[in-house]
Amino acid sequence: MLIADRHGKAPLPGKSGFNPVLAAQPRTIFDVMSGLARELDAVNLGQGFPDEDGAPDVREFAARSLMTDSNQYPPAPGLIELREAVADHYLRFQGLDLEGAGEVVVTSGATEALAAAILGLIAPGDEVVMFQPLYDAYLPLVRLAGATARFVRLEPPHWRITAEALAQAFSPKTKLVLFNNPLNPSAVVFPDEDLRLLAAACVKHDVIAVCDEVWEHVVFDGRRHAPLMALPGMRERTVKIGSAGKIFSLTGWKVGWACASPPIAQAVAKAHAFLTFTTSPNLQRAVAYGLGKDAAYFAPALQGFARSRDRLAAGLKAEGFAVLPSQGTYFLLLDLKASGIDMDDQTFAQRAVREAGVATIPVSSFYAEDPVTSVVRLCFSKKDSTLDAGVERLARARKLFS
Ligand SMILES: Cc1ncc(COP(=O)(O)O)c(C=O)c1O
Repeated sequence: MLIADRHGKAPLPGKSGFNPVLAAQPRTIFDVMSGLARELDAVNLGQGFPDEDGAPDVREFAARSLMTDSNQYPPAPGLIELREAVADHYLRFQGLDLEGAGEVVVTSGATEALAAAILGLIAPGDEVVMFQPLYDAYLPLVRLAGATARFVRLEPPHWRITAEALAQAFSPKTKLVLFNNPLNPSAVVFPDEDLRLLAAACVKHDVIAVCDEVWEHVVFDGRRHAPLMALPGMRERTVKIGSAGKIFSLTGWKVGWACASPPIAQAVAKAHAFLTFTTSPNLQRAVAYGLGKDAAYFAPALQGFARSRDRLAAGLKAEGFAVLPSQGTYFLLLDLKASGIDMDDQTFAQRAVREAGVATIPVSSFYAEDPVTSVVRLCFSKKDSTLDAGVERLARARKLFS
């Protein structure tokens, strides 16, 4: 981006141009919207990070560790204390029986775990089944690995998976399925029935499932997260990906992990060794400490997010907006059509930030083809004052546009 800006239309150095997969990627919508929010001093309900840092004790642990423990390269697959803490955490919270040393690889955020899984497991020419709406990193990574994407299109209001859609997407060439549950941006927690359909398709077609479960702790109204890895036939063919950034509301930490049976974990670890090699040791130590906590420790943060979700939803409903149910994640979807706004999501998001001073994320940006264009994503992990100001600005937008 910088290079292109600086050189304008001058020919780029390096013969035939840069990597075409990345050159074809537009700037991410999060970047665009956050940039506009800053420039226009708009209320930012766009990008998904909390207004306030979480877990003060985990941060204090990290600060102490920085001064008292080693700051040199830790082992490539991660400190054993964190690998064991991840395994123990998932045993206590999700009933999974993982072996820290052989089945957990620590990465620099879930994003690197995704990259390592995709690059480590795919061979050029393979097919990868993905669900739209999809997180922005998935498609470029799959294409960088030389694979072809096959999409299952999910749509509001229920975003359900069907056997027919899976049958159309899976083929003899399918190597991997990339699945995000709870799903960003739809804010749904997939029901057991859908998980069973997906697991059965993976077993039938001998496919590995890469499960992005970064939102596993942010599920509301008494729901429990069900890992795909726990379904029949999935233990040996699933890569389960988690993120400390999401669990402790410390999104900038970029400490994540991939859990899988030993041969798959080794393939992921190999790719990780050439991507980042390792991850900040003292953040790893602090995350290991935090993962050791019990359910009572995690409850207040979750209650806080649920309260913020309810505040934003109630405020919007009072202004006549229609919202979709948010079962998990930091997000709530505003249904433009049902709110009487006759405009596609991209136009709404652009006009709302410029004319009414509120940044949102158009959900069509999460589709590679045939997008859903009738909903925008709002992030509620914000202070009450930010949420209230967001509602007021959205109400202003609605008046302006009708
Ligand atoms: C579905 C999904 N996957 C991965 C990530 C990135 O996680 P990390 O910051 O640990 O790389 C996010 C962040 O919002 C996400 O929503």
